[in-house]
Amino acid sequence: MAELDWKNLSFGYLKTDYNIRSYFRNGAWTKPELTSDETINIHMAATVLHYGQAAFEGMKAFRGEDGKIRIFRPEENAKRMRQSAEYLIMAVPPIDMFVDMVKEVVRANERFVPPYGTGASLYIRPVLFGTGPRVGVKPADEYVLIIFVTPVGPYYKSGFNTVKFMIDRDHDRAAPLGTGHIKAGGNYGASLISSEMAHKLGYAGVLYLDAKEKKFIDECGTANFFGIRGKSYITPKSHSILTSITNMSVMTLAEEMGLTVEKRPVEFAELPTFEEVGACGTAAVISPVGEIYDPEHKYTYVFNEGKPGKWGKKLYHKLRAIQYGEEPDTHGWNLIL
Ligand code: PLP
Ligand code: COI
Repeated sequence: MAELDWKNLSFGYLKTDYNIRSYFRNGAWTKPELTSDETINIHMAATVLHYGQAAFEGMKAFRGEDGKIRIFRPEENAKRMRQSAEYLIMAVPPIDMFVDMVKEVVRANERFVPPYGTGASLYIRPVLFGTGPRVGVKPADEYVLIIFVTPVGPYYKSGFNTVKFMIDRDHDRAAPLGTGHIKAGGNYGASLISSEMAHKLGYAGVLYLDAKEKKFIDECGTANFFGIRGKSYITPKSHSILTSITNMSVMTLAEEMGLTVEKRPVEFAELPTFEEVGACGTAAVISPVGEIYDPEHKYTYVFNEGKPGKWGKKLYHKLRAIQYGEEPDTHGWNLIL
């Protein structure tokens, strides 16, 4: 086991032993290979540098009570990376290759999978980008898929305490028919101006409204949005939000707990009717949202008196229990190494 302060890890990069790479050249993927090199040498005209041919993924591995390592739904990440690749006209990695690479890189870095009980996990970050040189705006003929891992703690500094978000009507991260539904690197570049502003003002991030009318709720910059009203779990449906694998899983758990799941366009005007609000994603897990500030109306919406709500807590504990192998994985979500 690596010597790390497991209980106080932040969500950042820590060097591990290996990453794994497969190159797409001459129309085929090379046999994935582990390497200890943290850098990559690419052509200065690579399409990733000029034309944003880049997409990434994020998932986690957990060390369970029984000592086994569980990777949460990697096949779903493989499918989503394929969608991102298709949209950005990149080489599309086969599902089996992607999942095998994930398994191999986690195995090779086993000593970095945090011990059970520390609340930490191993974040797995696949990234795919165009390395072939182009000057005209055209897709590259060469790509690389790299998967690295890094042990992480909570994404939002507050742990399971509530976080605060703000609305930003001055910038959009994704156009109505643009790239919001895929995990394009460019979406995150486009979100920095908002998120940096939000951080300076003391918020964890921005809750984006739909880019066209600013009438509907989209999502947070790094997580999906949900609200609870009575016995309903309400989450937006929109072309410009990423289909969150965490949210998909939480919707299933919510139904099993007797909540009705409503996935539909959610008007911003509905916000004050929610008793609880949360953000969910691999990094965010389920983060209860205590406040949302709307600068246009200089108004702060407060949920559940700013404290984590009942359903957010229940869903969080259930999801964590499945991921750490404390409760039966009835849906077969975990890939056990
Ligand atoms: N929405 C955005 C914009 C994200 O970056 C993420 C993170 O992956 C999510 C939602 C959550 O998705 P997932 O639960 O698959 O991690
Ligand atoms: C994730 O949850 O995996 C994300 O992609 C969020 C992020 C750190 C960009």
